[in-house]
Amino acid sequence: MRRLVRVFAASVALVGLCSSAYAETTQEIVNKAPNGLALTPPMGWNSWNKFACDITEETVRKTADAMVISGMRDAGYQYVVIDDCWHGKRDANGFIQADPVKFPSGIKALADYIHSKGLKFGIYSDAGRMTCGKRPGSQGHEYQDAIQYARWGVDYLKYDWCFTGDRNAKEAYALMADALRSTGRDIVLSICEWGTAKPWEWAKNIGNLWRTTGDIWDSFDKKHKEHDWALTVMAIVDINEPLWQHAGPGHWNDPDMLEVGNGGMTTAEYRSHFSLWAMMAAPLMAGNDIANMDEATRSILLNKEVIAIDQDGLGVQGRRVAKDGDREIWVKPLSGGGKALLLFNRGDRAVPIRATNEQLGVPANFKAKVKDLWAHKNLNRWSGAIEAVVQPHDVQMYRIQP
Ligand code: GAL
Repeated sequence: MRRLVRVFAASVALVGLCSSAYAETTQEIVNKAPNGLALTPPMGWNSWNKFACDITEETVRKTADAMVISGMRDAGYQYVVIDDCWHGKRDANGFIQADPVKFPSGIKALADYIHSKGLKFGIYSDAGRMTCGKRPGSQGHEYQDAIQYARWGVDYLKYDWCFTGDRNAKEAYALMADALRSTGRDIVLSICEWGTAKPWEWAKNIGNLWRTTGDIWDSFDKKHKEHDWALTVMAIVDINEPLWQHAGPGHWNDPDMLEVGNGGMTTAEYRSHFSLWAMMAAPLMAGNDIANMDEATRSILLNKEVIAIDQDGLGVQGRRVAKDGDREIWVKPLSGGGKALLLFNRGDRAVPIRATNEQLGVPANFKAKVKDLWAHKNLNRWSGAIEAVVQPHDVQMYRIQP
């Protein structure tokens, strides 16, 4: 009898659930709890910065192989994400298919291959009628696309904002978040509307990361000659830094994918780019040709101590605590009372930079171990201050751990 009552109660609850699902308003969808994913900033590789629309199945497979061989997977780079231009047409029932020439084995086989390497698989779509590369977008097909992604074994969706007309960004992203959640599969949602509608103010319960700026351009501080929407690393840093209080476990500011190794910057500039991304708890999505990277690129992307700063469990985005012309001091609080400290020289000549207890935000009696994260060396214990000569466009980065 008791069992019967339980079954009856469960059916009533189920009917209640179904009918309320029909009545669900956008606001209710928006208010739902986040998906519990990306408790540290997502790490992986994305095809766009290097391959743009020239992406093929072969390149993705080779990249996945290289991520294992190079040690990237074991260093935490988990998601292999195909960006724009993988799409073919929708089938007779409206389900999206891959471009049969560029992806002859289809997406399911590719996802299986990536999973067999101990990696996760990500894909790209757009909230408009078309993607930025003019492939089919997801508008009007949100639930159907989410089902297709789940069938394929997608673990991560980057969702872009081209050809969206007068769509409301919050509604459009909440709708896709709901579609993904409805599949029952764990899928990280990467919001890519370039910060236009200030997603840091509304996307915490919708997506796991949101772009805060337009597209990155592989340059430290020299503007692109034709495209004013392309932003240098320095321009992005200045937009993303003040948003630090909006980031946290499960919802990160995304200052765009890494350019490390793509050839437009010096080794020092790439070291700064990577260090600043780690200080800002940014998603670390490598954007280079992993199968053919040189030693300098490898030593930056695979610096496990810098990665650990990015991935620290406290999940606080670091910020600039002092600026004197080109001299900057950045601090990121770490779990266990530690701090990451970055001395950054934006200028063209070497300068000394000095940080003290005051900038570190610690009391006068603070004592701690100090490790130089690029020289991989233990230094003298912290006792009040540190000073170093920092080369042009370069950094000194330390973990200061009590
Ligand atoms: C842009 C996006 C880029 C890339 C590109 C693909 O809107 O910001 O990261 O995805 O579209 O066309």
